[in-house]
Amino acid sequence: MLNKIIEVEDLAKRYPPDVMAVDGVSFSIDRGQVFSLLGPNGAGKTTTVEILEGLRVPTRGHIRVLDTDTTKNYARIRGKVGILPQNFEPFDNLKPVEAVEYWAKLFDMRKTRTDITELLDIVGLSERKNLMSKKLSGGEKRKLGIALSLINDPELLFLDEPTTGLDPKARRDLWKLIEEIRGRGTTVFLTTHYLDEAEKLSDDVAIMHRGNIIARGSPSELISRFGKTTVVVLEGVGMNGLTEITRRGIKATEANGDVMVPVANPSEMRTIFAKLSSIELPVKDMYTRRQTLEDVFLGLVGTKMDEGVLQE
Ligand SMILES: Nc1ncnc2c1ncn2[C@@H]1O[C@H](COP(=O)(O)OP(=O)(O)OP(=O)(O)O)[C@@H](O)[C@H]1O
Ligand SMILES: [Mg+2]
Repeated sequence: MLNKIIEVEDLAKRYPPDVMAVDGVSFSIDRGQVFSLLGPNGAGKTTTVEILEGLRVPTRGHIRVLDTDTTKNYARIRGKVGILPQNFEPFDNLKPVEAVEYWAKLFDMRKTRTDITELLDIVGLSERKNLMSKKLSGGEKRKLGIALSLINDPELLFLDEPTTGLDPKARRDLWKLIEEIRGRGTTVFLTTHYLDEAEKLSDDVAIMHRGNIIARGSPSELISRFGKTTVVVLEGVGMNGLTEITRRGIKATEANGDVMVPVANPSEMRTIFAKLSSIELPVKDMYTRRQTLEDVFLGLVGTKMDEGVLQE
């Protein structure tokens, strides 16, 4: 069996007159993994995904999905690919069972009532299957969307921001579902702007920014390559504190009033503490923690991302 399920070389997409939404990216994805394309609003994630789904024509580049040149033969693989578009909330006036049945007919799939019940069970909607879809919660609507995307038992599933706008409980529910789908052998191509989500779910991550991939690897590789092992958090010292700290030659970042100082090893820790103790800082609390993908992002892009928006 092929190991690479997606291979992309020098992919670019320009929207007229001159928006380079995707600016020459290359990557490949191993079969059976959860891959996350991570990035802020407008980074180029949906454009990339829609090209890989065969829905958009690239300006240039070579793309192979399931060992097929997507610009020539997408019809050959369409049946093996599942798609959850961004912001997909279908069928307000159908019940989940009816929606799945309709979808199956639309795609010429023979599905018995038992198949449909099983599918709704997989996504955790069996108790809500006879409720009008407009009465479902945001998270349940996404689950229905995922049920539809699984109708053809795809080898490769694209989920474009499946958890955006959901509450933490609904997000965690969907994480579980994505893990289950991966457990069934499906390769999952996820786009998200939640760094915790990408860190938790992904075997492999690409961080996209302004149409380019600026970092690539497993979450732990990215953390060890771009980050340091530990972060010292100085709570509440704010931008003034940051200025004082960086003036002493210590590398640090600020977010929500806290200053984070990444530290590589115990000897660096000693040096940094010695320097910090010479500064008068209004520290509310101080603690250390492991670096996260969020810290890596902050280091790479120079700013935090909140709900997909870069905090300039
Ligand atoms: N159909 C279009 N015509 C013109 N410009 C477009 C079109 N679709 C997207 N763009 C632009 O291309 C860039 C990339 O958009 P894209 O939707 O791929 O980003 P994204 O990473 O999916 O963002 P989000 O997180 O907001 O969904 C943006 O600058 C966007 O405004
Ligand atoms: Mg998008």
